[in-house]
Amino acid sequence: MIPQRMIDEVRQGTDIVDLVSDYVRLMPSGRHFKALSPFSQEKTPSFIVSPDKQIFKCFSSGKGGNVFSFIMEMEKVTFPEAVELLAKRAGIDVSKYREQGARREEKQQDSRFETLRWAARLFFHTLESDAGAQAYAYLTGSRSLEAATIRRFGLGFAPESWDHLLHAATRDRIPVEHLTELGLLTRHHQRNTLYDTLRNRVIFPIFTIGGQVAGFGGRTLSDDPETPKYINSPESATFEKSKILYGMHAAKDEIRRQEAAILVEGYMDVIALHQAGVTNAVASCGTALTRYQAKILKRYTSRVLFLYDGDNAGKKSMLAGIDILLSEGLTPWVLLLPGGEDPDSFIRNRGKEAFMEEMRSNRTPFLDFQLRCFRDAGMMDSPDQASRAVSAMTRSISLVPDPVQKELYLDELSKQLGISRKTLVKVMASADGPKTHAPRARDEEPPAPAPAPAPNRPLSVSERTFLEALLESTFYGNEVLAFAASHEQMLSLTNHAAQAVLRHLVDRFRQLDPKEHHGIDIAAEISSIGMEEARSLALDILFRLPVQEQAPILPDQLMQHARRCLSHFLIAVKTLVLEPLQLEKQALLSQLAGTTEKHEEKQLFIRLHDLNSKIRAMDQEVTGSINAILERES
Ligand code: UTP
Ligand code: MN
Repeated sequence: MIPQRMIDEVRQGTDIVDLVSDYVRLMPSGRHFKALSPFSQEKTPSFIVSPDKQIFKCFSSGKGGNVFSFIMEMEKVTFPEAVELLAKRAGIDVSKYREQGARREEKQQDSRFETLRWAARLFFHTLESDAGAQAYAYLTGSRSLEAATIRRFGLGFAPESWDHLLHAATRDRIPVEHLTELGLLTRHHQRNTLYDTLRNRVIFPIFTIGGQVAGFGGRTLSDDPETPKYINSPESATFEKSKILYGMHAAKDEIRRQEAAILVEGYMDVIALHQAGVTNAVASCGTALTRYQAKILKRYTSRVLFLYDGDNAGKKSMLAGIDILLSEGLTPWVLLLPGGEDPDSFIRNRGKEAFMEEMRSNRTPFLDFQLRCFRDAGMMDSPDQASRAVSAMTRSISLVPDPVQKELYLDELSKQLGISRKTLVKVMASADGPKTHAPRARDEEPPAPAPAPAPNRPLSVSERTFLEALLESTFYGNEVLAFAASHEQMLSLTNHAAQAVLRHLVDRFRQLDPKEHHGIDIAAEISSIGMEEARSLALDILFRLPVQEQAPILPDQLMQHARRCLSHFLIAVKTLVLEPLQLEKQALLSQLAGTTEKHEEKQLFIRLHDLNSKIRAMDQEVTGSINAILERES
């Protein structure tokens, strides 16, 4: 169990705007930030974050809460796991409260990362040592890398030796089984000995988004055609190539800032672009682009520019990548560099300015690129081939999740091909179904949850006013909650959600240490309300409340605010309590006006009389309590 004190510390150490920005692109909007909801597919942003109140609310899915609720929803973790994740992020150590089993596993993972970092350091130092002189000359010479770039990407060198790493591991007491697990050492089965996997190679450490070394790529310095040019360290618990983008740790901020990512094929392409100041470039690690990688990109941007080699293999990869991006709701663009250059060689040979000019004038929407590929392949010349090309293009469009975008792409395709929309739609429908081409990943969100059953009564204006005043009052202390707790009998709300909010807060108030004088943390309390509809209602109200001033306000000003808030609350209580009786009275009066029957009239008069005394009594009681409070306050 993590103690409440630590939980509070973690919450205070985590800024919600900062946290949410790791997942979606926030746009400022008045005092709030807006974004497209990460919980649903939407076109107009309904996801709001309040920096003042440190809460978020998604108006399309109804989800909302504080930093913990956000991470629970986003990472699909439990509350304690959410606390741990955020603790780590905030640099607070809560590991000693963790359960033993989980701790051991995490420890193992941590020490694997430590071993990887150790290895990266070793390779880096080797590159800078005499043993790395030739490799260093290669990087700074024919590859034109600056020392700062080599350092920034932590490049290294594994010399032509069978036991360089093995030796250093023994010296530094690094567990050899880690290195075999990570694939940095390989077992020679006949001799039952271990040897270095990466030899005579420039080393490219591959980092997680957070900047931890997860694996390595290595480029050979040999020109033996038998030796593969690049090899990667094998997949391991820390290194899943399909889930990692090379350079993401260095590129993510710029991708978010520019609202665009550049996708290249090679490690050297990423590095050359970054060195030239184009720092939103990333690469997949020698594999085809995966949906997982597309999802990573989508957290930061919706626009992705393919900048692969212009050869046939590169074009094929881009065509496949376009479909992956489209099905994740991203917008692909393509830039084909002239003269068979890759981005690295282009920048090296022609300079940064020429590169920027290419970016400006020659990038094309994906549709143009597809069409060009099919034209270049001669497919548009014969009807049967053209028909295949057209169905390939409509299939790509059918993958787009957003219906409006889909329509617009169809329009564009129809214009480009001179084929009617109607025909294109027919082709699209007759295809064997988009789902066979882009299976929905298992981990995808289920469709929006069914709405909760309707409450027995809709929320009345006086109930809302009451809750508003109740929530606002918590900024100023517990006075109002104390009142609500002692008058709970009187305060029965007919809307279930409203009643649940009141119940929750009153219960929480009762659990408070009476010595606790500062108010409860309302955002945290609301986030932990069990009933979703109630939580949503409370968040909605909290969002609309006026913000407390940021600047420290004078104590007597604060006093004034508090008093005004208290009287709002008390008026709301009075209205709330008396309202049902007043409504009943109105009903009786109209019945009276409508009757001519003497006996019924008499009965109604008696009831009216009773009701009037009840109202008077109630009014007196409430007013009495209210006055008592107001007197105590002044
Ligand atoms: P390229 O063959 O296009 O190499 O491979 P490159 O990036 O231009 O490399 P340089 O400029 O000659 O150094 C692109 C990417 O494909 C993967 C690597 O990730 C490489 O960066 N690859 C390539 C392999 O995994 N294995 C190989 O043998 C070759
Ligand atoms: Mn290259």
